[in-house]
Amino acid sequence: MQVTLKVLRFDPAKDKKPRWETYQVEAEPWDRVLDLLHKVKWYQDGSLAFRRSCGHGICGSDAMLINGKNRLACKTLVKDLGSVITVEPIRGLPVEKDLIVDMEPFFAAYRAVKPYLINDEPPPQRERLQSPEERARFDQGTKCILCASCTTSCPVFWVNGTYIGPAAIVQAHRFIFDSRDRGKRERFKALGSGSGVWRCRTAYNCTEACPREIPVTQLIEEVKRAILFDSF
Ligand code: SF4
Ligand code: F3S
Ligand code: FES
Repeated sequence: MQVTLKVLRFDPAKDKKPRWETYQVEAEPWDRVLDLLHKVKWYQDGSLAFRRSCGHGICGSDAMLINGKNRLACKTLVKDLGSVITVEPIRGLPVEKDLIVDMEPFFAAYRAVKPYLINDEPPPQRERLQSPEERARFDQGTKCILCASCTTSCPVFWVNGTYIGPAAIVQAHRFIFDSRDRGKRERFKALGSGSGVWRCRTAYNCTEACPREIPVTQLIEEVKRAILFDSF
């Protein structure tokens, strides 16, 4: 089939503002949007810039706005989109070139919640044991691939880029509800601040955008309750 692929492009070296560029691409229905971008880059226009690494929905590097929704290009099939496909960079982060955005503000928020186990107690002789139920309590957050689809679909983040964002809160949830961790109070400093969880207006865009089907809004609500009641 013939696909009309419209890409919002921007080259800071020569463009004053983003511009649409249209490509005609021969595709199979089971091709992914990532395949189309490769066909353009390899055979039509080598200057097209985008990120990708694993090609299989694991690394989180190719989130983009595809037909108006945040999705991973490597997990989105042509047959589910039709013969006209638009691709834009994810919103709310500065565009560096074409579909590549500056992820530093996103990862600064990630670092702010201290996304690692904190426990200064003397280690036991063997591992820190945990029951299956305790492990299940934070399982959802472990599925996050840090693709930024959630944060960059959040209207609060679009308006105020200092909002810590749903991805960082999901990462915080993963450790706050880990029975081995002792660092929740440190994390609450960032999460309870003016840029933290209270900025969330339960818009649900984040949950709809997550390619790992993490119930993002629910996890945010659990973190809010933890800060308020500290009863888990
Ligand atoms: Fe991506 Fe989902 Fe993680 Fe957000 S919570 S960064 S959408 S995997
Ligand atoms: Fe934004 Fe998700 Fe809250 S879209 S407002 S973080 S529920
Ligand atoms: Fe790794 Fe798509 S290329 S998630």
